[in-house]
Amino acid sequence: MGVSGASGTPYAAAVLRALLAAGESVDLVVSRASRLTLLDETGISFRDAHWQEDLGEWLARGADGKPGTFETDLTRVRYWSAGDLAAGPSSGSYPAKGMLIVPASTAAVAGVALGLSKDLLQRAASVTLKERRPLVVAVRETPLNGQTLRHLVTLDDLGAVVVPTSPAFYAGATHIQDLVDFVAGRALDAVGVRHRLYRRWEGDLGGGGK
Ligand SMILES: Cc1cc2nc3c(=O)[nH]c(=O)nc-3n(C[C@H](O)[C@H](O)[C@H](O)COP(=O)(O)O)c2cc1C
Repeated sequence: MGVSGASGTPYAAAVLRALLAAGESVDLVVSRASRLTLLDETGISFRDAHWQEDLGEWLARGADGKPGTFETDLTRVRYWSAGDLAAGPSSGSYPAKGMLIVPASTAAVAGVALGLSKDLLQRAASVTLKERRPLVVAVRETPLNGQTLRHLVTLDDLGAVVVPTSPAFYAGATHIQDLVDFVAGRALDAVGVRHRLYRRWEGDLGGGGK
């Protein structure tokens, strides 16, 4: 799992919590720029040397910023520094099922589409593609310019699943967390991870509407 510097750190927290709740082990990389978005959105200064403490505080927050909302066991998280290009996930021989980039900045989208590997997040994503493993890119920007749209088409051509961070409103959302969980759940659907983050559409408009 890679977290890049787009707005949307609650999406990353929701995906991480759900992966761990589903019994998955997670290799985590947090880009340098995403520390700015995390600081802006949660007030947390993420430190490599204290990642467990900072990640614990982050994952405990709801999308409304309230601390202590969730409880998560971090024992199955392996944390890698973004600058560590010798880290396990930078090699195709490292055992991995796939990768999610949540949220994905337009810079990360460009870097992965062009194969830049400027940090561990981008390198791990390129490795995921070359190994033909599932890659989910939860892009967060609006509006999108032609350059980013072309990079997204490239990623789609390469087999990645592009998941825009655009929640739907048919799942009965009443809180911000519901909207966040819908996007997180759709990202997890793309890699076949079971979760109960949102209510699925079952073809019933209720009340006999059209
Ligand atoms: C508070 C804040 C919010 C940002 N939000 C976005 C965003 O929603 N989408 C985006 O593509 N970039 C956003 N950026 C810009 C990226 O952080 C910047 O392009 C950075 O180079 C991304 O690097 P990374 O992909 O290595 O994380 C934001 C930056 C800051 C400081």
